[in-house]
Amino acid sequence: MIMDIIQEARRLALKEIEKFGIPNLIHFEISEKKVIELCERLNADKTIALTGYYLMDLKLGEAFKLNKVEDHIKMSLDVAKQFLEKFKLDEETKKKIINCIEAHHGGVPFICKEAEICANADAYRFLHPKGFFATLTFIGKDLGFEKTLNLLYQKIDEKYKILSIDICKKELGRYYDQFKELIKSVLG
Ligand SMILES: [Fe+2]
Repeated sequence: MIMDIIQEARRLALKEIEKFGIPNLIHFEISEKKVIELCERLNADKTIALTGYYLMDLKLGEAFKLNKVEDHIKMSLDVAKQFLEKFKLDEETKKKIINCIEAHHGGVPFICKEAEICANADAYRFLHPKGFFATLTFIGKDLGFEKTLNLLYQKIDEKYKILSIDICKKELGRYYDQFKELIKSVLG
């Protein structure tokens, strides 16, 4: 049962990615690996963190297509709540998974370390070089050179502010400084 919910949530997330192409698979996998790693290092509940992770950006692709990215948490939450009903979860677990979704952009406080892990792992999509260059490759084609760099400048700021776990701050802090400096040197 416990494995089921993780696998089902992953399947659902990948189905949406296949349909809308967002988030791209490199971004999806970077944070997925980080959620697993952080759960092990911080002794957190993988079922909660991974299920929350797979559900948190479930509707990002569709929201992007509809030009309302800022609504992706609410849209993902609607689908996630229905999804969670299929499993016999206790209220506490359900609340924590929902918090992983609601808090992943800092909109509401974390009520558990699993939600904190999801938000911190999400930051790797832009602050880790693999995520940074994946963004350049994927978004750059459509958005163009300057707009992409401006977007990245704003994104790395947004994601850096959300970092709360020491391991992540230490790992990503230096990249943050380097990317800011590099982008500034291009855009002036
Ligand atoms: Fe998101």
